[in-house]
Amino acid sequence: MVSNIIHIWVLPIPPTISPEEERRLLSILGEQEMSRYQRLSNRSRQIQYLLGHALARFKAASLLNLFPQNVPLIFEEGGKPRLEGNSGWHCSLSHTSELIAWAMAPFPVGVDLEGERVIKNPLKIARRFFSTTEVAELESLDEMAQQKRFRQIWCLREALYKAETDSPHPWQFELFHFFQHVMALAAATSALPQVIVEKVVYQEFLIFPVP
Ligand SMILES: CC(C)(COP(=O)(O)OP(=O)(O)OC[C@H]1O[C@@H](n2cnc3c(N)ncnc32)[C@H](O)[C@@H]1OP(=O)(O)O)[C@@H](O)C(=O)NCCC(=O)NCCS
Repeated sequence: MVSNIIHIWVLPIPPTISPEEERRLLSILGEQEMSRYQRLSNRSRQIQYLLGHALARFKAASLLNLFPQNVPLIFEEGGKPRLEGNSGWHCSLSHTSELIAWAMAPFPVGVDLEGERVIKNPLKIARRFFSTTEVAELESLDEMAQQKRFRQIWCLREALYKAETDSPHPWQFELFHFFQHVMALAAATSALPQVIVEKVVYQEFLIFPVP
C-alpha cells in the first residue's frame, strides 16, 4: 500500500441538497457521526458536516476498497478523525461554508482551509499565537500583504495542529490557493511527498452505491 502520495479531495458545497439526497448520505454515516450530526442546531453547519463526512467516507472507501458505510472512520475525543485498523492511512478534514477538503496519506497529515475574509487586527492575533519570526515578517508587510500572509500562516498552523503527532520524520508544508481559499497541508514524512489534489463534483455522490 505504502506510497509517498498525499491525496486531497476538494468539494465545493452545492447551494442545496434535496431531502432524498440527504437521507442517502446520512445512511452511510457511522453512529458517532450520526449523533454529532443530530446535535448540530445550525442547518448550514449540518449540511457542511454531512457533506464533509460523506466525502471522507466515499474517498476513503475507494482507496480501501470498501463500501463507504464500512469505512472504519472514528473521531477521537478532541475531534481528530482516524481510520481504525492497520490500513496505515492517516487522514484530515477541513471545511468552510463553501468548500470541503479531505486528505489521506500513508503518514501523519493535516489539512486546513481558510476562506477570504478581512482579519481585524492581525498583528494583535499574531502576537498571541505566532512565533516572533512570523510576527516580524508580518510587521514588515503593508496592510494587504499582511492580510494574505496572516491567513497563510494561520492555515499552516491549523494544518500542523491537526496532524500533530510524535512522528520522528520532519514536517513538510504546502500551500495552495484556489476558489478564493488558502489550503495548507502539513505532513510528517522524510521524503518529499507527491500531492494530488482532485476536485470532486457533488453529483458523483448521487450515483455511488449506498445501502
Ligand atoms: C479543532 C480545530 C483544529 C478545527 O479547525 P477549524 O479551522 O476551526 O475547522 P476546520 O473545518 O478546518 O476543521 C474541522 C475538522 O477538523 C477535525 N478536527 C477536529 N478536532 C481536531 C483535532 N484536535 N485534531 C485534528 N483534527 C481535528 C474534524 O474532522 C473537524 O470536522 P468535523 O467537526 O466535521 O468532524 C480548531 O478549531 C482548533 O481548535 N485549533 C487549535 C489550534 C489553534 O489555536 N490554532 C490557532 C492558530 S495558531
